Amino acid sequence: MMHLRLLLHLLLATLAASQQFTYSGFGGRGNGGAPNLTLNGVTELRPDGIIRLTNETSRLLGHAFYPSPLRLLGPPGSGSNRNGTAVSFSTAFAFAVVPEYPRLGGHGFAFVAAPDPRIPGALPSQYLGLLSAADLGNATNHVFAVEFDTVQDFEFGDINDNHVGVDLNSLVSNASASAAPVNLKSGDTVLAWVDYDGDRRLLNVSIATTSQKPAAPLISFHVDLSTIFLDQMYVGFSASTGLLASSHYLMGWSFKLGGGAAPQLDLSSLPSLPQPKPDRRSRTTRILASVFSAFVALVALAGAGAYGAYRYKNREVIEPWELDYGPHRYKYPELKHATRGFRERELLGCGGFGKVYRGVLPGTPPTVVAVKRVSHDSRQGLREFVAEIASIGRLRHRNLVQLQGWCRRRGDLLLVYDFMPNGSLDMHLFGDGLRAARLTWDIRYKILRNVASALLYLHEQWEHVVLHRDVKASNVLLDGDMAGRLGDFGLAKLYEHGANPGTTRVVGTLGYLAPELTRTGKATTAADVFAFGALVLEVVAGRRPIEQRAAPEEQVLAEWAWERYAAGEVEKVVDGRLEGAFDADQAVAAVKVGLWCSHPVPVARPTMREVTRYLDGGDAAEVPPPPPPPPPPPVCSGEVGYDDFVHSFPSSSFERAAAAGGVEPLSQTSVATFPFSSLSNRSSYVSV
Ligand SMILES: *[C@@H]1O[C@H](CO)[C@@H](O)[C@H](O)[C@H]1NC(C)=O
Ligand SMILES: *[C@@H]1O[C@H](CO)[C@@H](O)[C@H](O)[C@H]1NC(C)=O
Ligand SMILES: *[C@@H]1O[C@H](CO)[C@@H](O)[C@H](O)[C@H]1NC(C)=O
Ligand SMILES: *[C@@H]1O[C@H](CO)[C@@H](O)[C@H](O)[C@H]1NC(C)=O
Ligand SMILES: *[C@@H]1O[C@H](CO)[C@@H](O)[C@H](O)[C@H]1NC(C)=O
Ligand SMILES: *[C@@H]1O[C@H](CO)[C@@H](O)[C@H](O)[C@H]1NC(C)=O
Repeated sequence: MMHLRLLLHLLLATLAASQQFTYSGFGGRGNGGAPNLTLNGVTELRPDGIIRLTNETSRLLGHAFYPSPLRLLGPPGSGSNRNGTAVSFSTAFAFAVVPEYPRLGGHGFAFVAAPDPRIPGALPSQYLGLLSAADLGNATNHVFAVEFDTVQDFEFGDINDNHVGVDLNSLVSNASASAAPVNLKSGDTVLAWVDYDGDRRLLNVSIATTSQKPAAPLISFHVDLSTIFLDQMYVGFSASTGLLASSHYLMGWSFKLGGGAAPQLDLSSLPSLPQPKPDRRSRTTRILASVFSAFVALVALAGAGAYGAYRYKNREVIEPWELDYGPHRYKYPELKHATRGFRERELLGCGGFGKVYRGVLPGTPPTVVAVKRVSHDSRQGLREFVAEIASIGRLRHRNLVQLQGWCRRRGDLLLVYDFMPNGSLDMHLFGDGLRAARLTWDIRYKILRNVASALLYLHEQWEHVVLHRDVKASNVLLDGDMAGRLGDFGLAKLYEHGANPGTTRVVGTLGYLAPELTRTGKATTAADVFAFGALVLEVVAGRRPIEQRAAPEEQVLAEWAWERYAAGEVEKVVDGRLEGAFDADQAVAAVKVGLWCSHPVPVARPTMREVTRYLDGGDAAEVPPPPPPPPPPPVCSGEVGYDDFVHSFPSSSFERAAAAGGVEPLSQTSVATFPFSSLSNRSSYVSV
């Protein structure tokens, strides 16, 4: 019996060792006797023998796998080696990434070994069609991948937007290296080699744009794949697109199991893309031509009647400069249909810049989105705005409301955001008792940490410094798990690191506006920190930063909280509705952080990095005492009354559920956009 089993294992091992295949192009002749690959998702085999995993449509994923499983584990041994050790393998493949917009990628391509060739539950975008948000890092995934990533995702600590990474059960790469000088998104065919030495437990990855394998590998990483692999694994490829999209192509593949190098692929004998790089100019010409023909058609229509003229006036415009700013993704009719013609019933709320509608985009399953309709008069302003939006579309953080796309039509800009089922923090803090009851201390504290981490990302962790400029409770949205997500980047301006920020408008909301903003008009990270401080105190106390109807000494929350703190009565700041159910240490830490951030002098405020460290620690003793504020400047009399400002910030009841990127409930108009000049003589009133 024992012998039989041994024999069987030996047989299997020999079988495994003999596994080898080569595809020079796919389908028919190029297969050299190997079976056709199993295609999944949007992957298709083109007549020229090239497999296309995704096209240039957003949020797609595609897989192509060798149809039968391979034995990547050797025969079982004893002790800790009961499952067997991973055997050596070697593979080479040729692929090309052709982005819709040459400088922007979207999203990436990967060589994969997984237990199931359909990879159930896998998501597109940054998940590369490999994993989902729920199973990231879970050891039960048994997913090994070598990613060729063309988008930098901070969530996963990506080093740049042109890198190769080794991923084990996660998208946080265990080893990664910049692909340079190879440009993955150039549209050129790239040859890649992945070699694993089972005895030395060494994984090598190389890339080149010629048939010649480089002498030294790009990545050489010591790893034991025995714990990742199951007995039977499928090998193949995965690719995905997100807001940004690329076509991902596979031209050839060779594989050898059990030691020795995979058969050499010769670039010249592989099928090649007819037009490896779509010419931007021809694309522009094509679009211009189509706009022109639309124009001609509309002129004809105009002759037919006023209806035609109306249609012309409302046409969707695509100008050449817009092509520089990434995908102009949604078509107006698509969004119109999704929101049922922007019907009042689909209205979620009104913000300072426009109305927000609920929309349902078709698909399986259909996705619920929030569509923000921003009106804009100035053509120049709109152009800057679109440039900004394109950058914002590349921001990615789990505590930001994700922008999915946009569409422009006349003076309207339509922004499509992820839908946030639990609405805004504001609604919960000041809405009906039922909602407020959901805001336990733990949830409140978690939300503060979430928002802090989003702001830290905007300030320090992205390629530019992004100022939010309108941090407030109604811009904090709550997702399905009641985690906080910062929304509404409509006001954010981008600054290069080190560049001098300058602006002529003061944008923000009373109570969250840093005092220096009204004097200098310059938005800074310190001003965001100030607004965050107001938010912290608001969430802890369950009171608005400025409460008009409160007793005079309690009107300004930060001042009142400071007095309580100075008197050693921090617990009195905490929302009475919690009925004492809160973590005292965290509460004191939060109040101290809130007061520190609310300091009238910008340089006295902490950075978001310090704030996140203190909030994450949750240890009151670790937070340095906030410096006391200087005495308030004398208030002049006879100017515009304080009440004029407070009136623009009503705290009326909320009639409708608001639940989207930067939504404010109807009847609340809290974004105040003032030309700087008209504010300069009122500064003393806004100093808080
Ligand atoms: C593989 O695909 C090609 C092209 O679609 C087809 O002609 C051929 O019959 C397929 N071979 C097998 C074994 O299914
Ligand atoms: C991309 O593929 C999807 C799914 O196959 C299809 O719906 C879409 O029209 C394609 N887009 C382009 C630009 O070919
Ligand atoms: C990992 O996945 C398994 C199966 O899907 C699940 O039961 C388990 O809870 C997950 N573990 C974690 C830490 O998410
Ligand atoms: C890979 O990285 C994860 C965390 O990112 C870590 O838990 C795991 O141990 C690493 N595996 C190896 C083999 O280095
Ligand atoms: C991996 O690269 C190292 C050099 O870094 C080399 O010594 C080793 O032989 C390579 N192994 C394989 C399997 O290619
Ligand atoms: C052997 O494989 C099983 C699942 O197939 C896994 O639960 C177990 O942890 C593995 N043991 C080792 C030592 O890797």
